[in-house]
Amino acid sequence: MAEWKKKRNIVHHYNQLASVYDIQYADEQKAKIEAVLEKVALENNNFVLDVGCGTGLLFPYIANKVQLFIGIDISRELLKKAETRKECCSNIHILLADADHLPFRFWSFNITFAITLLQNSPNPLVTLQEIKRVSKKHARIMVTGLKKKFTQKTFTIILENAKLELSALETDNNLKDYIAKCHFKTET
Ligand SMILES: C[S@@+](CC[C@H](N)C(=O)[O-])C[C@H]1O[C@@H](n2cnc3c(N)ncnc32)[C@H](O)[C@@H]1O
Repeated sequence: MAEWKKKRNIVHHYNQLASVYDIQYADEQKAKIEAVLEKVALENNNFVLDVGCGTGLLFPYIANKVQLFIGIDISRELLKKAETRKECCSNIHILLADADHLPFRFWSFNITFAITLLQNSPNPLVTLQEIKRVSKKHARIMVTGLKKKFTQKTFTIILENAKLELSALETDNNLKDYIAKCHFKTET
């Protein structure tokens, strides 16, 4: 119950913010996006998911470079902004959905992004497990953690608890998030 109350508040918060989101946050988010993209190679047969895509700031960086790009978000008003940003490319699709209940089959995506999403999750571990469920076994899972919300230690513990193996962690002081490149942990 508390989980849904928190989500309702999040939806309200981002719906209210929609008209000014890009003005307030685009520069900050683009800096994170560019740092994330330095760590991941895109291939033209890739299926890519952006969980918590917001206004679609990631879209123009990726869309023409991969086969399919899907952005999901829980805020209808942010998705209306994303709608205009997706017009550039026919392979971008957006959906209103909850990160903890993704409307996709197991093992669907080669790359999954979750950029500045986890601070909103009632339980980040649940969110990461759902992200893992829809990611292919060899997927690259690119997650960022808002420094204001997580210490580096708590962020890495959450990844560890989700059985994600870190292949890179960037903690650059100029960025407001930690940036993690993760894979499925290989069972020993
Ligand atoms: C700080 S914004 C980041 C948006 C985008 N990734 C960016 O870099 O600009 C967080 C986003 O997560 C979305 N969000 C929060 N909780 C969510 C959930 N349970 N399911 C899907 N999206 C969620 C919000 O609506 C918002 O768009």
